[in-house]
Amino acid sequence: MIPRRTFTLSLLAASLAGACSATPMNAASSAARTPASPPPPFDPERGYQRREVRAGDRTVVVRAWEGLAYVSRPVEPQWQVMNLYIPEAYFQGERIGRHDARTAPIFLPNSIGGYMPARPGTPEGRFGPPPAPGQTPPPSAIAVALTRGLVVASPGARGRTLQAADGTWTGKAPAAIVDLKAAVRFLRHHDAAMPGDSARIISNGTSAGGAMSALLGASGNSADHEDELRALGAAPARDDIFAVSAYCPITDLEHADAAYEWQFGHAHDYRRIEMSMLDYRVQRREVAGTLTAEQIALAQALRASFPAYLNTLGLRDAAGRPLQLDASGRGSFLDQVRALVMASAQQALDAGADLSSRGWLRIAAGRVIDMDFDAYVLAATRMKLPPAFDGVALDTGENQLFGSRTVDKRHFTAFSAQHSRMAGASRADERTVRMMNPMHYIGQSAATVAPHWRIRHGTMDRDTSLAVPVMLGTLLAQNGIDVDLALPWDRPHSGDYDLDELFAWIDRVTASAR
Ligand code: DHB
Repeated sequence: MIPRRTFTLSLLAASLAGACSATPMNAASSAARTPASPPPPFDPERGYQRREVRAGDRTVVVRAWEGLAYVSRPVEPQWQVMNLYIPEAYFQGERIGRHDARTAPIFLPNSIGGYMPARPGTPEGRFGPPPAPGQTPPPSAIAVALTRGLVVASPGARGRTLQAADGTWTGKAPAAIVDLKAAVRFLRHHDAAMPGDSARIISNGTSAGGAMSALLGASGNSADHEDELRALGAAPARDDIFAVSAYCPITDLEHADAAYEWQFGHAHDYRRIEMSMLDYRVQRREVAGTLTAEQIALAQALRASFPAYLNTLGLRDAAGRPLQLDASGRGSFLDQVRALVMASAQQALDAGADLSSRGWLRIAAGRVIDMDFDAYVLAATRMKLPPAFDGVALDTGENQLFGSRTVDKRHFTAFSAQHSRMAGASRADERTVRMMNPMHYIGQSAATVAPHWRIRHGTMDRDTSLAVPVMLGTLLAQNGIDVDLALPWDRPHSGDYDLDELFAWIDRVTASAR
């Protein structure tokens, strides 16, 4: 049985929270005029299938609701749905490990990639690296979570290519984050009717999905997103979450072009990945080349602009020492990034890896004692052309992300708008750009930031600068947030590759909360 003890109280709390966090409405906004509608329903005794889920040598029987609407006025009913999996044991008053129906954390993985529309995840689907030939694929994060006794809710979300029959675009920023927030509100609203503790939601995502996971964790209950949530008929409840797992988050997009050139600016040869989309899966093909003189000029201008931004963040290390950059891009922030790469190399060395071919690392008596950062970057090679995210030809996925209802692709930085090669190109409004960036919410009283974060970005990841996860993790930590940040050795752009460690971390942070 589901404990009913909190039923009345939590419903009351949910509607109060919804009422309190509502934005003072602009009378002209369409959302303000939208009448309230009943939140999407959930009945724990109906509409599910019983399924057996396996991960390694563990199995668990679950109730599976697939395609559950999490808003009552969807714009894209095919996408604004979640898959919800709840271990049957919790309906029988049983425990799994130390979890029961009241305390089980809720794992919230999204499958967003490339800022494309995303289907809800399933126990059978995988997001991790492909298995070696002849090997059975490792279990998905969803399967592992369920066999460990977590409840799993995996929301689908709108993305940058969705278009309605009338030709208007329906998945542009901030659609995906609004959808994830609506899914959280659904879970919080139905907390009393559903096993699992909606005060302990842990989001997970990779790349664009990692960025959305981070944004969800940073912008809890933000009034900025309220109009859009209300227009969708999201449940009246809070949307702050307990913990964030973010793999290689492609985030801080306004500053990611400058951060990219801070790291890769001296690398003029590239190995670019051509992305194409098949269904909602991102296909990648590698093409080699060298920057043109015009591209080198853009790279230099962007690189020169990065220290000023970095220094405005006022970052400090764990000992309180300022992390800064001089005009040439050197300084204590670079040393911090180098220290993280060297710590990763040390771990690989301790685990028996042979690093003798890495000429950019200095190793003495089994210790990594120095690294040549620029040589490391050249060895990794540049992947993106400058500007990496806000393309001057409006040719990136991010340009399409920041389109509007009527315009497919727009700029979202002053720099690229000024250097645009596209006649008549427009620029996304500041509010939308802000709503997509977790950096704007951390340390601000206007949002509730998740108290626990795990951020991973591989040392061979070239999709965004290492500066991005380091800035994010450092800003969180100096605002009193518990952050576990590491740069896994030799990992390219990927996620869900270390599920044992991920779930051990989830066990730790959820144990300390009780
Ligand atoms: C993804 C990768 C990128 O390089 C990017 O700019 C945006 C998204 C992704 O894999 O999700």
